[in-house]
Amino acid sequence: MEYSPSEFLQKIKKAADHIGAYLDQSTKGEGPVIKQKSAEDLAASLQVEEWIRKGGIDDQHIDDFLPTFLENSMHMHHPHYIGHQVAVPHLASGIADFIHGAINNPMAIYEMGPSSSVIEQSIINWMLEKIGWFKGDRLTDFRDIPGNGGGIMTHGGSLANLTALLAARAHIAPDAWDHGNDRDLAIIGSEVAHYSILRSISIMGLGKSALIPVQTDDNEVLDVNQLARTIEDCKNQGKKIMAVVANACATSTGLYDPIDEIGSICNAENIWYHVDGAHGASALLHGDITHHMKGAEKANSLIWDTHKMLRTTTLSAAVLFRKSEEMNATFQQKGSYLFHDKEEPGFDLMPYTVECTKGPIATKLFWVLGAMGEKGLGDYVAGRYYLTEDIYHLLSQQEDFHCPYIPEANIICFLYTGGKAGNEFQLALRNLIVKRGNFYITSTEVNQVRYLRLTVINPHTAIDHIKNLIEEIRTCANQLLS
Ligand SMILES: Cc1ncc(COP(=O)(O)O)c(C=O)c1O
Repeated sequence: MEYSPSEFLQKIKKAADHIGAYLDQSTKGEGPVIKQKSAEDLAASLQVEEWIRKGGIDDQHIDDFLPTFLENSMHMHHPHYIGHQVAVPHLASGIADFIHGAINNPMAIYEMGPSSSVIEQSIINWMLEKIGWFKGDRLTDFRDIPGNGGGIMTHGGSLANLTALLAARAHIAPDAWDHGNDRDLAIIGSEVAHYSILRSISIMGLGKSALIPVQTDDNEVLDVNQLARTIEDCKNQGKKIMAVVANACATSTGLYDPIDEIGSICNAENIWYHVDGAHGASALLHGDITHHMKGAEKANSLIWDTHKMLRTTTLSAAVLFRKSEEMNATFQQKGSYLFHDKEEPGFDLMPYTVECTKGPIATKLFWVLGAMGEKGLGDYVAGRYYLTEDIYHLLSQQEDFHCPYIPEANIICFLYTGGKAGNEFQLALRNLIVKRGNFYITSTEVNQVRYLRLTVINPHTAIDHIKNLIEEIRTCANQLLS
């Protein structure tokens, strides 16, 4: 059945009532944060097979379907959601999604979405400005200015990392696009680089052995002396260093690699420097925490997810380049039905992306900024960093908890020491916490030790919620020990 515009709006109003009730409850922290049924039971309750086969979802079915769907979704706005690095979205971001859901303007070519295109270019300029790579007079200055940076929004940080590494390869080995890779290309990066880096290297056909890992310290932060040594070793072995990759910040610990010092080494050696700022580049938005990103302007490329610390829904990231020419050289390919000479008053983004069809990604952040303003968003980021430090102090005061490092971002790892020693106990604790559904937290290994892990990303989480979490952990530990 086709929905007329008025039927569509009627269904939206119905759905909005359910979503409103869900958000109200979640934000107040009522009910569980997570509820896990078996996949088969859940599919049956949602009548997934029936709807796929027969169709016909009508107004009254929304009342049956949506409460079950929402009940069995992760309650991101619940203050006890302190899990992954996934934004608790500002609801303004949902307005962008709603508009896109109705009008569908994939805008990698200007004609297909002029409004979204100018918003993307302005958001890119805003991000470039924060790094110091924007030379225009105002964010809507779209001129091709000499020395200007460039960038593009991608569907997530993994694609952004791939795009940046493709640009690095185009820089050092421009023939690789046509003739394949030289066997002597090497990428140097922290041994705990995000797995999307290694995956990109394999996707590019370099083979994962092209990543030369640099030893990290006890908290898995890259050691610059080791980096210098690794660069020397690579040069002595006749390798061509395609890029050095730094974590800003590391996924598991939230600790920043020494961005500035690595940048100085790369610039002196004339090596492409890529900063993976998927999570931590947002520190650029607030003066109190921006020191973590000091030296970011020395990078050649930098990625920055908005669906982590910038309050947007998934998927949304940016890959940014110090020099726009580097971005222009990334993909050396033309599709004649798209890239023909045409006269148009805007710009096509398609030549710069892995994607052919691309969503109006930047409209999400545009709506968030439209609601909060850049200061409001910066205050939110800094506020989550401060709260994480407070959590560190709170946990450190407990006799039965241990934090291995002072957090730098809004990610914190810790051990419950009142139970059994060893990784299995921490993992069992995390699993029981999630099974009980009162809190959602994660766990990770740092230097082979398994920790409980929080990402303090939720604007509704306060220190009192963490006090309750401490009690929940103790209850779970007692249950496991009994
Ligand atoms: C440091 C880092 N880089 C890249 C990524 C991948 O980003 P995405 O999940 O947006 O693909 C992540 C995801 O957690 C990350 O933490």
